[in-house]
Amino acid sequence: MKIESPAMPYNFADLEPSISRDTLVFHFLRHQRVCFDRMLAMVRGTELELLSLTELIRVTERNPAQHVLYRYAAEVYNHDLYWNSMRPRGGGLASGLIAEHLRERFGSHERFVREFTDAASAQFGSGWLWLVWRAGTLEILTTSNAGTPLVRGDVPLLALDLWEHAYYLDHQNRRSAYVKAFLEELVNWDTASARLAEITAATETRVAARPRLAGEPVVRAAGGRMP
Ligand SMILES: [Fe+2]
Repeated sequence: MKIESPAMPYNFADLEPSISRDTLVFHFLRHQRVCFDRMLAMVRGTELELLSLTELIRVTERNPAQHVLYRYAAEVYNHDLYWNSMRPRGGGLASGLIAEHLRERFGSHERFVREFTDAASAQFGSGWLWLVWRAGTLEILTTSNAGTPLVRGDVPLLALDLWEHAYYLDHQNRRSAYVKAFLEELVNWDTASARLAEITAATETRVAARPRLAGEPVVRAAGGRMP
């Protein structure tokens, strides 16, 4: 099996008081680990066992007969990015590479916060809120249930779990309070900047490898694809 067991990048109590230890314990062990174990049981002994997690997601999404497996695999991926989209004493204004692109796309931090918060409120029922890289710019979008933007060709930079199990113990049904805590106290902008830097590096490599036509301007890398 090429896919590694899920791991948290910090201790369960490290996000307190923004997210309680109990919430993270239940969330990691009773949700992501269960999805991982079920996914593993379904691929063991098949050719799917040889795929990476992102390959498995893309292959199973294309086949309706494999959508149960797709949902488990997508939930493993989504939660991996979610854990890494937060850090102890995170939140606040963005810095680094992601800050430049946020300014370019949204104009101000306040407008980004408004659009991100509005998108979370507009998502009916369980799902995910994403900041993604699409065709050379940032976009905010939501997916329902286990859906992941990977299968649309977008590059996820940050993920926020909108299932009630992510916030009910701490905020009951007040999703907006949870989104506020994520933005003000938890979000890890370094994750988004690092993923953007990977996209830029991958695109520059491809641009450099392609022969330039006579008279063609040198194009600064701005878009690309990465898992
Ligand atoms: Fe979750």
